[in-house]
Amino acid sequence: MLPKAMTRMLVTGAVGQIGSELTMALRERYGHENVVAAGHRTLPGPTLRDSGPYETVDVSRRDTLEAVIEKYQIDTIFHLAAILSAVGEQKPHLCWDVNINGLYNVLEVAREREMTRIFCPSSIAVFGCNTPCENTPQDTILGPATMYGVTKVTGELLCNYYHKRFGVDVRGVRYPGLISSETLPGGGTTDYAVAIYYEAVANQRYTCFVRENTVLPMMYMPDAIKATIDLMEADLPRLKHHADYNLAAMSFSAGELAAEIKKHIPDFEVEYKPDFRQAIADTWPRTIDDSTAREEWGWRPAYDLAAMTTDMLDKLTARHLRGDLYR
Ligand code: NAD
Ligand code: SER
Repeated sequence: MLPKAMTRMLVTGAVGQIGSELTMALRERYGHENVVAAGHRTLPGPTLRDSGPYETVDVSRRDTLEAVIEKYQIDTIFHLAAILSAVGEQKPHLCWDVNINGLYNVLEVAREREMTRIFCPSSIAVFGCNTPCENTPQDTILGPATMYGVTKVTGELLCNYYHKRFGVDVRGVRYPGLISSETLPGGGTTDYAVAIYYEAVANQRYTCFVRENTVLPMMYMPDAIKATIDLMEADLPRLKHHADYNLAAMSFSAGELAAEIKKHIPDFEVEYKPDFRQAIADTWPRTIDDSTAREEWGWRPAYDLAAMTTDMLDKLTARHLRGDLYR
């Protein structure tokens, strides 16, 4: 039997850091009218709003999700709506409601409608203090210390269960911290690695909320978008894992990141004032073994720290000169 095609797609959380760029990449690839962007409370920018269908969905309310799926005859969902780690520690009940009940609604609708494919991202936050923190293996001890991490482990298990039990083709990666130049991140622990670029361009100063020697796995957004589309287009029989692929590109300390930016902006100064997010970062791995993703669906990142920094500073400087850095 031929695999079902991905023809009509819904992106939940489309106004967020990943969704705003993934939606545009999907529209370019599959046709603008075939990719529905679903936002929640934050208003979309004109590029997202005007380049294809735009709707409002609260994923924790199944009726709002189902109405949009019915209206556009959706067969594929990129489910990005979530509460991230730092906000999740401040609002753990909301984090559970959105990340778990929202995902359950997506999976149930996908099962009932026999949808083609679902993408649901996980995170390095599934790991915890007892996980090996260097070259963290694909299959290892999890044990997250945050509500966000608890929801991500639960989400992986739920997705893998829906695949095995009901045949729902649901796929996902454990994204590292993502760095991007279009949309600011929505309340995670790795947000400093984006904010540092914005502040370097705007003010040549940054106060960093983790220690200088904090090392975390990171990835530039173009690689994250490529990984997402590559995994969703991979042949199902090649996949031995489904919703829990380790994914890596680079790892560096906050100090190494600042030093790389300083090569371009010599006057740039950083001070370090760790806050509650330091304790979260301390439970996450430093480096990730992503050999399973490389073997099963050919994953290869393109950007390292130097290439990413050149591109980020070019893009943010152009925005700063246009006066829309913090639009
Ligand atoms: P984000 O916070 O930028 O965007 C998430 C979006 O979800 C927001 O626009 C928010 O308005 C929306 N949302 C919140 N509650 C909602 C609800 N009830 N219904 C519908 N939408 C709702 O997050 P992101 O960085 O784009 O992350 C997307 C996914 O990728 C999440 O699952 C996240 O856990 C995962 N992830 C992100 C990173 C990263 O560094 N950005 C790393 C690992 C995993
Ligand atoms: N970047 C995300 C966060 O910090 C990791 O999942 O929450």
